[in-house]
Amino acid sequence: MKGKFITFEGCEGVGKSRQISLLEDYLKDNGIKYYFTREPGGTDISEQIRAIILDGKNTAMTDECEALLYAAARVQLIKREIEPRLNNGELVFCDRFVDSSLAYQGKARGLGYDFVKRINAYAFENAMPDLTLFLNLSPKDAFLRKGGADGKDRLEVSGMEFHEKVYAGYLELAEIYKERFAVIDASGSKAQTHGKIIAVLKARGII
Ligand SMILES: Nc1ncnc2c1ncn2[C@@H]1O[C@H](COP(=O)(O)OP(=O)(O)O)[C@@H](O)[C@H]1O
Ligand SMILES: [Mg+2]
Repeated sequence: MKGKFITFEGCEGVGKSRQISLLEDYLKDNGIKYYFTREPGGTDISEQIRAIILDGKNTAMTDECEALLYAAARVQLIKREIEPRLNNGELVFCDRFVDSSLAYQGKARGLGYDFVKRINAYAFENAMPDLTLFLNLSPKDAFLRKGGADGKDRLEVSGMEFHEKVYAGYLELAEIYKERFAVIDASGSKAQTHGKIIAVLKARGII
């Protein structure tokens, strides 16, 4: 039997990492076997690609090159780690996946969803998530919750326009992929958001 593939999505600072660690505790406490991975990364080669993408010296990188590198790292992760486990009936979670490319490169960088879908054909054809947990909180609210104004205020504010576009992309994707997306209100406490995630996973028969 094929396993289940669940991804976490949302803007920076909305609590994905925090929720993943709460979910891992829950799964361990309940004796549920799972595999967690993250993007970009999750394999040796994918981590090396991640280093190229995140290297501050690579200012000459084009948006298209960046999008292709994400896609390359993703294929490696799918074929080496995700697909074998799904074929083995396992429960697989991933911190960010192809929807991040659609929101960041497709929407916010302006490459368009079609371009991103084409270069990610392998993922679309072989490894689409059964469920995408979209932690819904605007980048502004996430920023304010983190403590808001600090020394980096101006930088954060100029970056905000980009993050608002990413957020707009996610809201569109939640409409386009209604069946697959579960929109989780992430504005409450960590425990409240955790409870909502567990409820969705139970309702969909995943745990
Ligand atoms: N529900 C919450 N309420 C208050 N603070 C939160 C909540 N969820 C996360 N945080 C805090 O917000 C910051 C970003 O959370 P993090 O889990 O790293 O987000 P992400 O992985 O989505 O970028 C952290 O400092 C975290 O402790
Ligand atoms: Mg994180």
